[in-house]
Amino acid sequence: MSTAGTQAYEARRTFAIISHPDAGKTTLTEKLLLGGGAIRAAGQVRARGERRRARSDWMKIEQERGISVSSSVMTFERNGIIYNLLDTPGHEDFSEDTYRTLTAVDAAIMVIDAAKGIESQTRKLFEVCRLRDIPIITFVNKIDREGRHALEILDEIQEALALDVTPMSWPVGMGSDFFGVYDHIGNRFFTSTEGRGGPLDTIKDVKGLEDPELVGELFDNIREELEENVELGGAGYSEFDQESFLEGHLTPVFFGSALRDYGIDQILDFIAAHAPSPHSQPATGGRTIKPEENKVTGFVFKVQANMDPKHRDRIAFVRLCSGTFKRGMKLKHVRAGKPITVSAPIFFFAEEREIAEKAYPGDVIGVPNHGQLRVGDTLSEGEEIHVTGLPAFAPEILRRVRLTDTMRVKQMRRGLEDLAEEGLVQIFKPAIGTNWIVGVVGVLQLDVVVDRLKAEYQTEIGFEPVMYNTARWAECTDPLKLDKFLETNRAHVALDRDDKPVYLFKNAWEVSYVGEKNPDISFRETREIVHTS
Ligand code: G4P
Repeated sequence: MSTAGTQAYEARRTFAIISHPDAGKTTLTEKLLLGGGAIRAAGQVRARGERRRARSDWMKIEQERGISVSSSVMTFERNGIIYNLLDTPGHEDFSEDTYRTLTAVDAAIMVIDAAKGIESQTRKLFEVCRLRDIPIITFVNKIDREGRHALEILDEIQEALALDVTPMSWPVGMGSDFFGVYDHIGNRFFTSTEGRGGPLDTIKDVKGLEDPELVGELFDNIREELEENVELGGAGYSEFDQESFLEGHLTPVFFGSALRDYGIDQILDFIAAHAPSPHSQPATGGRTIKPEENKVTGFVFKVQANMDPKHRDRIAFVRLCSGTFKRGMKLKHVRAGKPITVSAPIFFFAEEREIAEKAYPGDVIGVPNHGQLRVGDTLSEGEEIHVTGLPAFAPEILRRVRLTDTMRVKQMRRGLEDLAEEGLVQIFKPAIGTNWIVGVVGVLQLDVVVDRLKAEYQTEIGFEPVMYNTARWAECTDPLKLDKFLETNRAHVALDRDDKPVYLFKNAWEVSYVGEKNPDISFRETREIVHTS
C-alpha cells in the first residue's frame, strides 16, 4: 500500500460521498470499489453490512429501517492513486458523526437522483462542505430511469446551491429511451450492446456529434435533444476551471447510472486528475500543518466503540496530516501529554482489515485503544499542537434520561459516555439534579441509543421530555463574569462531557432574550472540539 518516493501523499485522494437517502450512495460506493478492484463482485457492500448486523444486536435497527448507521473507511488503489473513501452515515436523522467525517476529507462526491434533484439532506451536507471549502463533484444518478431534463437539473444545482456548474457529460436519452452517456470532452460514447437501458459494456471513440457512428446509433429525437443540450450547455454554463473547483465555487457534473455502471470510471479518472491531494490542516497557535512536513501529525475524527462486541475496545480513526507514519511508532497524545505506541494500526479495505505498516498524509488508520483517544485529539511526534476545525454542534432535541433499573447507573453513564464519544449523542450534566440530559440532532438517534445501551451495556433506559429545547455553549472572555452568570442561573446550566458550560433554553425567543440581557456572554451554536486539558 505504499507509493514510492517521498511525496507519496500526492497520490492520495481522500473523499466522501454525500447524498439524500435512496439517491444511490451505496450502489455508487460499491461500483467505485469494483472499479478500483477493491471488491470482486457487486453486492458485497451490502453483504458486508449484513454480516456486521448479524454480529451486533443494535444494528437490527439498521436492518429494520434499512439505513446505515455506522460509518467506515475504505481504501483502494487504482492506476497508482490511493483512494480513501470515507463513508458518511446515510439516514435522514444524521448525527455529528457525519459532520465530523467531512472534516477528514479533501473532496466529496454529491449524488443526486435525476428524478428528484437536490433534496434536503444533500443540501445540509453540502452546506457543511461549503463551510470547509471542500470541492464537490456532482454525480447525477439514475439517468436510466425517467428523470428531469438534464438542463433543468444543472440549473437547479446552480441556483439552489449558488455554485457554478460544468457539465462533464450528457445523458443520451433517459428512462425508456436511455442509450448511454456522451462525453463531449473526451469524445467518447458509453453505451450497451444490449441496446436501450442495458448495462455499460461498450465505449466508442467518436469525432463529435457528427460522427457517423453516433448518427447511425441514435434515434432522431434523441439526437436532436443531445445536440441541443451540448450546444446550450456549452453556451450556458462555465467551462471547467481547476482553481474554481478547488475553491469550492464550481462543481463538475457527471451524468450516470451507478446501477448500470455509467459514469463510474469517469468519476474515478476525474478524482485522480483533478481532486486535491491532502490539504494543509489548521492548528492551534496560528500554525498550519503541511502534508510535506517530515514529522507525523494526525487527528482523531471519529471513534467507534464496541466494533467487536466481545471486546470492549474502541477504534479511533486517525487522519494523518503530515509525515510518514510507521507501525510501532511512539507518538505523543498531546491532550494527555503522554506517549502512545501505535503497535497495531489498522487499514480498512472493503473486504478486510490489514495491519498498516506505513501510512501517509490523507490516509486514515484505525488505532485500537481503551478509551484514551477521543474525537478532536491530536497525535504528534512531540510537538505541542492541536488540530483545529472540528466542531461540535448544538443539539436540536433534548431529553432527560430515565433509568429503569437504578442499580445500573454506572453502566448507563459509561455507555452514554461511550456513545457521546462516537458522536451519536451529546450528554449534559445539569448543575441541579442528577439525571443526565442527552441531546441529539435527529430523533432516530434516541432509538439507537436505547438499543445500543440495551445490547452493549445490558441497561434499559427511557427518555422524558424536558422543558428545554435548545442548548448553547456559554462563553465569556472574562472568567469571573462567566462564573457569576452561571452561578445566578444554575437552574438552566449544565456541563457537557468536557465540563464546558451550556445554557439550556426553552425556545428561540429565550435565546435572544437572555442574549440581550447578558451582552458579555456569548451563546454559541457550535464549539471547537479541541481538548487542551
Ligand atoms: P442509498 O445508499 O443512497 O440510500 O441508495 P442505494 O444505493 O441503496 O439505492 C437506492 C435504490 O436505488 C436501490 O433500489 C438501488 O438499486 C437503486 N439505484 C441506485 N442507483 C441506480 C441507478 O443508477 N439506476 C436505477 N434505476 N436504480 C438505481 P432498491 O430497490 O431500493 O434496492 P435494491 O433492492 O435494488 O437493493
